[in-house]
Amino acid sequence: MEMELTATRIMNAKSTWERVAGPLVDIVRPIAITLKPVIFPILDASSQRRIQEAVNIDDLRTAAERISHAMVFGYLDSSAHDERALRRSCEAYCDVELRHAVLHGVGNYDIDLRTKILGTDTKMPYFLTSCAGQRVLHGDGEIATANAAKNHGLGMALFQLTASTFLEVHEAHPEGSKALQLYVWRDKVLFKEVLDRAKEDGFTSLVLTADFSWVGNRERDTRTGF
Ligand SMILES: Cc1cc2nc3c(=O)[nH]c(=O)nc-3n(C[C@H](O)[C@H](O)[C@H](O)COP(=O)(O)O)c2cc1C
Repeated sequence: MEMELTATRIMNAKSTWERVAGPLVDIVRPIAITLKPVIFPILDASSQRRIQEAVNIDDLRTAAERISHAMVFGYLDSSAHDERALRRSCEAYCDVELRHAVLHGVGNYDIDLRTKILGTDTKMPYFLTSCAGQRVLHGDGEIATANAAKNHGLGMALFQLTASTFLEVHEAHPEGSKALQLYVWRDKVLFKEVLDRAKEDGFTSLVLTADFSWVGNRERDTRTGF
């Protein structure tokens, strides 16, 4: 009920342009969806080729950069304040060396990384963290993430303002552990409604974000106008 009222409030606050463009989008969208299976593979061919030919994460990054709008790629790829912390984080991985031990009687397939996170079984000792705006990055958005988590036996966290519904994500990964990542809203009634809905739709835990009380100075986003 509260959600409906909020939706009406937002609708009434729309500009004239939004009121005109909204119905147009509603007409164009079903046509685009019908044509998508024919046109999309043609438009997407070179990017698919780059993905097939990628031999490492860097190649995938280049493939993403080539297909994305600068705003979108910048959002995914950048960080705040000269991006120093991001560079340091990446460099830190260069200090990690895996010690190659041979002839000790443990084969590749003997290694078992299964464990429990928050009481739930997981095939590897981590879960996929939340990332806002996944449909900006790929049309399948959070559903693709849920599919990947399912395929690899991992749990996942979902951004509170997800572009896919809780139910869609649950249906894509019904058995998996799913956390809802929270920003605590001032509107407690709406907030509780969101929590109840998440619980109803199979979410098993909450991830509280504490460090987002202001927006970071993401300079690349300022340059691209994101
Ligand atoms: C594009 C992008 C969007 C993100 N969105 C969120 C978010 O909505 N909520 C959140 O709690 N963390 C968000 N994060 C942070 C990630 O969940 C993660 O904690 C962070 O990237 C550190 O993990 P990493 O070193 O594996 O990238 C985002 C990160 C990126 C790169």
